[in-house]
Amino acid sequence: MIHVSRLTKFYGDYPAVQDVTFDVGAGQVVGFLGPNGAGKSTTMRILAGYLTATSGSATIAGHDVVWDSLEVRRRIGYMPESCPLYHEMRITEYLHFRAGIKGLYGAKRRQRIDYVLKRCWLEDVRRQIIGTLSKGYRQRVGLADALLAAPPVLILDEPTAGLDPTQIRSTRELIRELGREHTILLSTHILSEVEMTCDHAIIIHRGRVAAQGTLSELKDRASAGAGLVAAFDGQIDDTALASLEGVTAVQKESVDGIVRVRLKSDDVASLTPRLCNLAAAKGWKVREIRPERPTLEDLFVQITGRENA
Ligand SMILES: Nc1ncnc2c1ncn2[C@@H]1O[C@H](COP(=O)(O)OP(=O)(O)OP(=O)(O)O)[C@@H](O)[C@H]1O
Ligand SMILES: [Mg+2]
Repeated sequence: MIHVSRLTKFYGDYPAVQDVTFDVGAGQVVGFLGPNGAGKSTTMRILAGYLTATSGSATIAGHDVVWDSLEVRRRIGYMPESCPLYHEMRITEYLHFRAGIKGLYGAKRRQRIDYVLKRCWLEDVRRQIIGTLSKGYRQRVGLADALLAAPPVLILDEPTAGLDPTQIRSTRELIRELGREHTILLSTHILSEVEMTCDHAIIIHRGRVAAQGTLSELKDRASAGAGLVAAFDGQIDDTALASLEGVTAVQKESVDGIVRVRLKSDDVASLTPRLCNLAAAKGWKVREIRPERPTLEDLFVQITGRENA
């Protein structure tokens, strides 16, 4: 649905986005993840037709974002980082105005406005002047605007930024629901948000795609070189651990008579029974043995920390 090929954007001689290539399939909810300044908003603005790329190309539903920008705009709902709302208008006036721009008229317009007001929890404040709304409510108006014309694709730039925890939770639920009807690309630098709302993620760092895939693929990638964590009561012989077949490194620490070890191995699954046998043979009192569960955060830190170091 969204196809991006070798997209590059220079601001002067500063490369904000370099050689970015990715695809978002129809119906997918994809997290566009990266630290501040990574190039997320720049890429999204190019997709939404607000900025032209220096080189490379992007299409949405087969339409080029530059050459076919009107067709693209008909198919996307874009929620920018800070929504350019008209502060002197009431919410309903603003939505009527936006609906007119999007070609919605008559009963259809009223019906869609009622629907987005309801969907974005704005019914109670529908007559309030936008300038007097809190940040969270303005975000909702931005999302309502993006949903107005029922576009198949939603491009949401940090939809939960600046919201309080309750609003964040309800917005994430809304995004998950919207994911059943729309293809969504959503940017964030919050990993848990991606884990809660997305099925795929693209990690962008310093303008380049550093990793992409389904969440489980990315976690598997994080687990390369992962291992086992084990804890024992009393002393153990760590040279025996180090000589276990398949162990590539051992870290050990003792706290209050409990010894915790972290064993690195390329084959964690077959290491577990070998460790159990060793513990039984040596008479060690096992407290726990578990595989290290790699998280998206581990991968993110591996990627973004490596180059910052
Ligand atoms: N109009 C501009 N002129 C010059 N440099 C810019 C401009 N807009 C963005 N940049 C730079 O391009 C880089 C990427 O910016 P971008 O806004 O795309 O990052 P981002 O990933 O959205 O970050 P954030 O998480 O902070 O929103 C940054 O270093 C930024 O300073
Ligand atoms: Mg941004």
